[in-house]
Amino acid sequence: MAALSFTLAHTDTHSKARAGIIQTDHGAIETPIFMPVGTVGSVKAVTQQQLQEEVRAQIILGNTYHLYLRPGTQVLEAAGGLHAFNGWHKPILTDSGGYQVFSLAANRKIKEEGVVFQSHIDGSRHLFSPENVMDIQRSIGADIIMAFDECPPYPSEYAYAKKSMALTHRWLDRCFARLAETPDKYGYTQNLFPIVQGSTFPDLRKQSCEYIASKEAAGNAIGGLSVGEPIDMMYEFAALCAENLPANKPRYLMGVGTPWDLLECISLGIDMFDCVMPTRNGRNGMIFTTEGVLNIKNKKWATDFSVIDAGMPCATSNFYSKAYLRHLFVAGEILGLQIASIQNLSFYLWLVGQARQHIIAGDYASWKTGMTDKIKQRL
Ligand code: GUN
Repeated sequence: MAALSFTLAHTDTHSKARAGIIQTDHGAIETPIFMPVGTVGSVKAVTQQQLQEEVRAQIILGNTYHLYLRPGTQVLEAAGGLHAFNGWHKPILTDSGGYQVFSLAANRKIKEEGVVFQSHIDGSRHLFSPENVMDIQRSIGADIIMAFDECPPYPSEYAYAKKSMALTHRWLDRCFARLAETPDKYGYTQNLFPIVQGSTFPDLRKQSCEYIASKEAAGNAIGGLSVGEPIDMMYEFAALCAENLPANKPRYLMGVGTPWDLLECISLGIDMFDCVMPTRNGRNGMIFTTEGVLNIKNKKWATDFSVIDAGMPCATSNFYSKAYLRHLFVAGEILGLQIASIQNLSFYLWLVGQARQHIIAGDYASWKTGMTDKIKQRL
């Protein structure tokens, strides 16, 4: 079948925001888009039916690191890939495991060959290399697969960041070479996105963008941000990378962010986002709504019988009350985690959908200012 294509429907004249369509063998994705994180092949607490019908997700994420450890490639291959295994038949993107190895695994050792690490589950030892990470992603069968990279911590010394970036670039060549030698397993095309690194050094970031752009991949990602740097620095480097990556390919900013980060980065020319924030923070009682952010555990919601978020097209948001959701959290009921996750993900998908409409309508910049002020409020 066909490699991923990207069509730009509209580019904003007052900002760098774009509205586009990514076409994959599992269907279309309207950009800008937010991708719910489904680490082990499930978006925590949310069913695939809810993702489709309530959240209106267009693409979800999986993680190579987790899926390799459990259930393992044998099971995934026997199932016919992750789509068949988990029943999500729209596009899937898998992260390469590079980031997770650095954030989760124990006793990591980075070598030219790859990274030796111990599983966070049972302490067993494994090697991730650009080659076997491509093989694992072939077995998982995501539509978009990520290059194996090193995400340096913040802050990093210049010398370390430079060495690390060069290693990520050499690993990228090996990813492309391996992919070229191995056919698609399940009859549809898998598309490799390279990842820009270079920490917080403008010259390294530019070099990395140039190198990544020279690969002429179907889309390009920006990594190594949102790792503890000040927010203005994150915006500065997202902007610099967006400017230095091809305009005719989707740009994916990895691991970002708050709803207002999305609106800001969309105006810098970013098309794709993923973040655990809506699900993880939702499970802690932080609820994002069209009116602002609320801590549902707060006593002030105990007798507020208004629906969670009347401003949303999602059935769950318009069905349960704030008081009921608070009660579920206070009582430790798992339904609370499910409702909170659906509300937050629906909100993120609604927000990027609204952003898209305003880019097309030509009033994105002014809409963004008002919307940011509104959704940032603490209720
Ligand atoms: N997720 C968030 N940041 C990164 C990154 O720098 N690399 C990878 N592979 N995944 C990420």
